[in-house]
Amino acid sequence: MGRIRILSDNVANKIAAGEVVERPASVAKELLENSLDAGATEVRIDVENAGRRLLRIQDDGCGMLRDDAMLAFERHATSKLSDVRDLLAIGTLGFRGEALPSIASVSRLVLETRAADEQTGAAVEIAGGKLLRCDEIARPVGTTITVRDLFFNVPARKKFLRSDQTELAHIGSLVTHYSLGHANKRFELYHEGRELLNVTPVGSLRDRAFQVFGSEAMNDLVDLPPKTFELLLPPPYHPPFAREATAEPAEPETAQFVLEGLISGPHLQKLNRNSIYLFVNGRLIRDKVLLHAISAAYHNLMPAGCYPFALLFLNCDPGEVDVNVHPSKTEVRFRHGSQVHDFVRDAIRESLMQHRPVSSIPLPTSPLPINQSSPSVPAGFRGDGQRAAELPFSEFSARVQAFADPPEASEIASEAEPFVNAPEIDQNLPEIRVWSQSEPLTSSQAAMPAPAEMTRPKAANRIPDTHGALEQLSADWDRMDSLEALPHLRPLGQLHESFIIATGRDGLWIIDQHVAHERILFEQVLRQRAAGTVEIQRLLIPIVLQLTPSQQFEYPRIADELTAYGFESEPFGQRTIAIQAAPAGVHTEDIEKIITEILEIAESELRSASLDEIRRNVSATIACRAAIKINTPLDTTKIEWLLRALAACEYPMTCPHGRPIALRYSTKDILKSFHRI
Ligand SMILES: Nc1ncnc2c1ncn2[C@@H]1O[C@H](COP(=O)(O)OP(=O)(O)OP(=O)(O)O)[C@@H](O)[C@H]1O
Ligand SMILES: [Mg+2]
Repeated sequence: MGRIRILSDNVANKIAAGEVVERPASVAKELLENSLDAGATEVRIDVENAGRRLLRIQDDGCGMLRDDAMLAFERHATSKLSDVRDLLAIGTLGFRGEALPSIASVSRLVLETRAADEQTGAAVEIAGGKLLRCDEIARPVGTTITVRDLFFNVPARKKFLRSDQTELAHIGSLVTHYSLGHANKRFELYHEGRELLNVTPVGSLRDRAFQVFGSEAMNDLVDLPPKTFELLLPPPYHPPFAREATAEPAEPETAQFVLEGLISGPHLQKLNRNSIYLFVNGRLIRDKVLLHAISAAYHNLMPAGCYPFALLFLNCDPGEVDVNVHPSKTEVRFRHGSQVHDFVRDAIRESLMQHRPVSSIPLPTSPLPINQSSPSVPAGFRGDGQRAAELPFSEFSARVQAFADPPEASEIASEAEPFVNAPEIDQNLPEIRVWSQSEPLTSSQAAMPAPAEMTRPKAANRIPDTHGALEQLSADWDRMDSLEALPHLRPLGQLHESFIIATGRDGLWIIDQHVAHERILFEQVLRQRAAGTVEIQRLLIPIVLQLTPSQQFEYPRIADELTAYGFESEPFGQRTIAIQAAPAGVHTEDIEKIITEILEIAESELRSASLDEIRRNVSATIACRAAIKINTPLDTTKIEWLLRALAACEYPMTCPHGRPIALRYSTKDILKSFHRI
């Protein structure tokens, strides 16, 4: 007798459960996806003991016919696929027909359901994969699935579960994510009777994000209105004889991609990717192509190792994306990955460019510092009116390992950029240098109200009057000034001869003069490099530079690129090069440092980064060295030029290394801080 046997369904289901049911949150994911596939508009999830003891999901979806209620627990039983061709264009979240049998094989499960077409419903009870009962019941249309004692028969799996807090955090994050993906539906989540999330249907993503993250976080978010990309598909290959037979060339086919969502300005910087929520055709996924596209969009806007908040919905023809990559269905594979990558990157960049968000100075009363005022801690995810930050599992999103793969080393390498050490501010300088009244005002400045007029002080005990006096300002309170306001700012002076202080229509601005100039030069260098119009300065005496052995190896590979940037150089004996010219504006004493830094970039990145990325890094290095330093006094004319030139930049938000350029203390925040509103 042969030794190979076909495994029983029970064993096969348990094996499948090993892949699909990792923890209580995976049960929640499968059941939630089933409810959404069933067209539910209201989903309620109750959890006990972080999902170990109980996880119940109730929906008002289409329900199941009585016969189907039993069939649903058969392996590979699904209503979502019928044919192998359907696999090429999956429009539902589930399709494998293995979630329910898998869950039922490792828990005690009760399914209660009723379809609209039937007068009575069905209750099916299964424990550890064994059918215990199947009854007729009375109930409303929809489905309730109760999963108790998860892994009661798989003790090894139980041991892998983490603390209650972590497991609950996973569930919370999962439900929150899905609630963001379906703004028009109601989601409720309760842990042992305590409400954790309760969001009612709303008309827009922004409204849902507001429900989930709260108003403060919304100020940092920028809308990404729907952007469409049509990809011309290559014609299908026909062998030459077949081609001759076709009289008319076929119409070129296209695939459409639509991207929309919410993204944060570059000033909101997260230390991991947990605040990136990606939905492809309504499915919550983790995808390296899209994650890389997002990082690429923020390249030179954010420091390496920092990530934005992004809530992105990419919709496309189901044939363009393969969702049958992993049993847990959290990964996808795009048919045209690189085109999708570039589309997503450019769409995000374009939105950032249009909105030009400006960083706010965090209010002292604000509950969390700016880089923690985290949309990853949703305000809607609360209990008894508590803010999320007070919850025992407030870090829930940060802990979601299921959706928080550590970045690939290669991805980090391509984003890596040296953070240039900022020189120390000279503490002995006078704090604020305010220009004398005799200094002439420009016409734009003259049009601005003087600070004294704006904040006419009132007696503290006459608060109602204060509101009256501030009426003139109120019109602008809700108008968030963007960086468009830069050329209209009224410079007041410098702080530590390093930061420009200015007033605008909406508040007080602080601009870092070095990084502002760095951004201006960076874009200028990039433009000149692309147009081949880099201005150069010949050196009276060539600079002779000694190379290390590895630099000597890199040098020939980037010599042409160096020339294109204005660094004319040639080998000069053993491991030595002579530099005869440099880009205009670069100080002679910086030339050696710049070349060394460029060689380092080449060494670390040439293999993994694209030419475009290398050029950006080289331009950033040149800009950083040539930019006005801190501790440098500037006169009004220079400052005005700087503000105008900055406003004319494509991305005036951050320096090429990702540090913010301008901070704004809005009038509203100032009034709040002084308890005037
Ligand atoms: N909440 C629900 N409402 C209505 N029908 C449901 C519900 N949950 C499951 N079903 C039915 O049970 C079938 C089996 O569900 P199951 O989750 O096991 O498989 P699937 O969703 O088809 O695929 P996958 O394994 O990828 O999730 C579904 O195809 C669907 O017809
Ligand atoms: Mg399913």
